[in-house]
Amino acid sequence: MELKCLALACSPRKDGNTALLAGRALAACQTAGCKTEFLYLADYRYAPCRACGGCYATGRCIVKDDAGLIFDKILVADCLILAAPIFSMGICAQAKMFIDRAQQFWAAKYVLGKSVIAEKERPARRGILISCAGTTLSGVFDGAIRVVKYFFKMLEINLIATLCYAGVDKKGDILKNPAALEEVYNLGRELSGIK
Ligand SMILES: Cc1cc2nc3c(=O)[nH]c(=O)nc-3n(C[C@H](O)[C@H](O)[C@H](O)COP(=O)(O)O)c2cc1C
Repeated sequence: MELKCLALACSPRKDGNTALLAGRALAACQTAGCKTEFLYLADYRYAPCRACGGCYATGRCIVKDDAGLIFDKILVADCLILAAPIFSMGICAQAKMFIDRAQQFWAAKYVLGKSVIAEKERPARRGILISCAGTTLSGVFDGAIRVVKYFFKMLEINLIATLCYAGVDKKGDILKNPAALEEVYNLGRELSGIK
C-alpha cells in the first residue's frame, strides 16, 4: 500500500531552516516509495477561528477558505511532517492560527462523538514536528510541542518524534548542522515504515 506523506511548512520564510528540514524528511519518504506533497502555509489564505461554534453541528468549519483545503489533504495523509519555527517564544503565529481552525475536529470528537478518520483499514497515522529557534534558551520549544501534541491528537495522528534545533537563526543556518539533516532524513524513513 502506497503511503501518502504530506509536509506542511508553516514559516513565512520560504526555503528557511524549518522548510529545508521538512523537505529533507519528505525526500526520505519519497525515496522509500511514498506519494509526497510539500505545502507552504504562506501560499494559502485562511482566517483565524472566530469561535462562532458553527462546527459544533457537523464537525466541520463553516468558514469557507483555504484552511478547509489543507485539512482535506491532512485527513487523507498517512504521514504528516509539520514544520514551524519559534517566534516570540511559541509556535509561529501562522501555524497557531491554522491549528486553532482544527477546533472543528475537537468538536467532531468531543461534542459529536465522531471519529475524525473514517477509513479504519488504513494504517495508524503518524507524524513528526520539526522546529528551529534562534536562541538556545531552556524550554524554548516547550509551548510549541504542547500545541502540536494537542493538534495531532485532534487529527488522530501519532506524534512519533519532535525534532527541535536551537541556536539556528539565519536563513540556511541549519545546513551547517549535518547531524540535524541526517536525523530528519532518518525520521522520514521511519515515517515511511523503514527502520
Ligand atoms: C518574528 C520572529 C520572532 C522570533 N522569536 C524568537 C524567539 O522568541 N526565540 C527564538 O529562539 N527565536 C526566535 N526567532 C528566530 C527563529 O526561530 C529562527 O530564525 C528560525 O531559524 C526561523 O526558522 P525558519 O527559517 O524556518 O523561518 C524569531 C524570528 C522571528 C522572525
